[in-house]
Amino acid sequence: MKSRVEKVFRNLDPKPDVVLLMNSVDPHIDGCFFYLFDVPGGLFEGSVEIAHPDGQLDVITGALEADTADLAAQHDHGVTVHRVGRGETANLVKKLVPGSATVGLNFRELTHAGYNQLTEMLPSAKFIDAGVGLQKARATKEPSEVERIRSAAAIGSKVALRIPSMLKTGMTELELAAEMEYQMNREGANGRSFSTIVGFGAHSAEPHYSPDGTRLKSGDSIVCDFGAWFRRYACDITRSFHFGAPDAEMKAVHECVEAAQQAALAVLRPGVPGKEVHAAAEAVINASRWKGRFTHGLGHSLGLAVHDGSGGLAPNVDDPLEVGMVVTVEPGIYLTGKGGVRIEDDVVITKTGYEFLTTAPRGYLEVAA
Ligand code: GLY
Ligand code: MN
Repeated sequence: MKSRVEKVFRNLDPKPDVVLLMNSVDPHIDGCFFYLFDVPGGLFEGSVEIAHPDGQLDVITGALEADTADLAAQHDHGVTVHRVGRGETANLVKKLVPGSATVGLNFRELTHAGYNQLTEMLPSAKFIDAGVGLQKARATKEPSEVERIRSAAAIGSKVALRIPSMLKTGMTELELAAEMEYQMNREGANGRSFSTIVGFGAHSAEPHYSPDGTRLKSGDSIVCDFGAWFRRYACDITRSFHFGAPDAEMKAVHECVEAAQQAALAVLRPGVPGKEVHAAAEAVINASRWKGRFTHGLGHSLGLAVHDGSGGLAPNVDDPLEVGMVVTVEPGIYLTGKGGVRIEDDVVITKTGYEFLTTAPRGYLEVAA
């Protein structure tokens, strides 16, 4: 997209002669490839993009996606698709990039093997890192990007609402995860945006837990952290529940996490550094009897990837929030060996503060066993 190529060059300092993106094999596919070329489907393994300061974009791709690329290019001003056969990419890159050019690469995503190939293709070129500029351009979303994340978030929210009715004594974590993913696809998702986290009982105290055959029993805390893809954009939502026999401590933990999220939202607006938002949530938890049990950053940027680059709402983020950024707000308290609670929502930063993209209820919910 011409406007996005131009935005990337505006964010680059020093400015290269071209920006070159090269995909490897899935999952080593650069999300920036789809930022610059808005193509709805396809993997684009081994494909190359060459972006020029005037906004023009050359896309080099093979037979697997060339028709899809041609179709998308009809609606994507400034894109030229080059269809290549096996082994032809190198010669075309040499033709499209002046031999002595300064070439901006995405050091964050390019594989080392890919870098070696490029140094062979363009032996006289000077390679510099364009990763920061690409990252900055992607950080503030256009309205059309926000709408895709909103659609993904609407799917996630709908499924979150249904989780209580899916819970059955004896079901496994994997069964619940499968049902949630099936429901997201039925609602129009293009798959899951990351591996679904479902943790029962003590497993809910591990933030990045992977579900297994553990069965649901009365008295369990439940953490469900999941997301939909919608036309290449992600949502990321977490809801926590309590199943069967009540537990006064877990109810109080849930209320504390909710209060921490409210404290963060109260300071969320343009100009505030990410670390201040994190600190607002952390202060609530550290003033409680669960001091130190919030063990991760408060939130991350969201977009073409579920962890959409650096930034977000973590203790090390000095950068101020800007209008159009989309971030998660996800405080949690984790009691090792017992259970955990996390509440995660996706918000877009607006001129006056923020707007929720995820909408499912967040309050404490005891589901009868
Ligand atoms: N959804 C998992 C995470 O944000 O780390
Ligand atoms: Mn998250």
